[in-house]
Amino acid sequence: MKLKIAILPGDGIGKEITDQGVKVLEAIATKFKHDITFSYADVGATAIEKTGSPLPDESLEICKKADAVLFGAIGDPKYDNNPDAKIRPEQGLLKLRKGLGLYANIRPIKVYDDLTYKSPLKEKVIKNTDFVVLRELSGGMYYGENKVSEDGLSASDECIYNAKEIDRVAHLAFSMAKQRKKKLTLIDKANMFETSRLWRRRIMLIAKEYPEVTLNYMFVDNASMQMILNPRQFDVILTENLFGDILSEEASAIAGSIGLSASASIGEKMVLFEPIHGAYVKAKGKNIANPLATILSVAMLLEHFELFEEADALKTAVNKSIELQITTPDLNTSQKFSTSDVGTFISEFILDKKNVFTHI
Ligand code: IPM
Repeated sequence: MKLKIAILPGDGIGKEITDQGVKVLEAIATKFKHDITFSYADVGATAIEKTGSPLPDESLEICKKADAVLFGAIGDPKYDNNPDAKIRPEQGLLKLRKGLGLYANIRPIKVYDDLTYKSPLKEKVIKNTDFVVLRELSGGMYYGENKVSEDGLSASDECIYNAKEIDRVAHLAFSMAKQRKKKLTLIDKANMFETSRLWRRRIMLIAKEYPEVTLNYMFVDNASMQMILNPRQFDVILTENLFGDILSEEASAIAGSIGLSASASIGEKMVLFEPIHGAYVKAKGKNIANPLATILSVAMLLEHFELFEEADALKTAVNKSIELQITTPDLNTSQKFSTSDVGTFISEFILDKKNVFTHI
């Protein structure tokens, strides 16, 4: 298969982790005889420093010309600590999501048997946890009007949803549940908000088309507790943009490290894959960030293009690195493997290199 991938490393550790994503994709291309090419573009604080814009037009064009985007991370404390900054790195990601029409973000949460001890929760609570958070990505408070009064003493952020935005992601959620354990949980705050009640009305209608899927509802406050008390109860979670951002990050802690959580953002035409963690600017250049979330995002990319054998080879290599503890310090404090060691191990394992350890 011929694939053009746009690589957007972004900020902080973005370059280090996307380099490992490219390395494993090159190994997959070699082993399975695919023609995979890469084009690079700036986004986030890196782009602001070079061009003044968090997503220059040229970067968006490079993404649109590609078959898929692999995104690193975005953000810089320099901007976080300045509430008056008008231009922010995160705007680059929002512009990108809008520009590529990405409307759903899929975040799988899976507990690895070899890593249950890393979770802050008890093994008996989390063992065999395997669910997906499906986050609506194009609406809600992220894209409503943000206002601050002239005296600077009051502010508002608007949350808007329409039926079309809800319906398209709901269909995706039901189809995913149909292929999994056939359970869908809509998480909202329908006891408080009109947007949540609109979500419920639309979902109730759409549910009639998927009789094989069991639908239930949960308020977001209860859901954030249920995720800790009994994460195994979930199969597919569907929720709006802001709740999805918060809940998926909470969910990633169950698995033991946010460095393991991959994601896929789906649009009508475009797809983007990215680890769910942030830019971890303190670790920039230290070669210590966990590349597994990026590498697992690459596995989702391969699955998206129906390269299932390739995705399985990649996931087998990831499982091996976890089993052998060829992992970065967030997962492994006894041995010191770097970001690039982990990427190299996984690519060489894919390529069946016998002396996969010798360079480490
Ligand atoms: C995420 C991030 C982004 C979000 C930020 C960087 C804009 O937290 O992808 O989850 O809030 O969507």
